[in-house]
Amino acid sequence: MDLRELYQDIIVDHNRNPRNFRPMAGAVRIAEGYNPLCGDKLSVYAKIEDGRIADVSFVGSGCAISTASASLMTEAVMGKTVAEAEVLFADMHALLTGTASGDPARLGKLAALAGVKDYPARVKCATLSWHTLHAALQGELTPVVTE
Ligand code: FES
Repeated sequence: MDLRELYQDIIVDHNRNPRNFRPMAGAVRIAEGYNPLCGDKLSVYAKIEDGRIADVSFVGSGCAISTASASLMTEAVMGKTVAEAEVLFADMHALLTGTASGDPARLGKLAALAGVKDYPARVKCATLSWHTLHAALQGELTPVVTE
């Protein structure tokens, strides 16, 4: 199996069986994201304990790319410090918008989303959950809109 097929399989798997796809009782951080291009919305929930993301989840409706991106994101930031998650947000933003340098493979499974940068209409699908997580971690109360 070549890398492209592997990445495709990761996206299909996370769209079909999204990880951490659930609302969260007792979340201390909640943010909503909205993509006006398609009308898709998602909410990101997080619990922070001792500066670490003790739990993170999402709900919402979106395309395969946005669902897979949100699912991969929750897996990737679970247990990380808020600062580490913010670094990953910046890395993923660069990857998805085509401004990253270096080998995307260093991002592990998240590199499966690297191909999105070649499809400008899909970039917002993939960045929606990350912007929403960022807003949740910052405690911003204004809904995130991708445009
Ligand atoms: Fe709506 Fe992708 S088409 S988030």
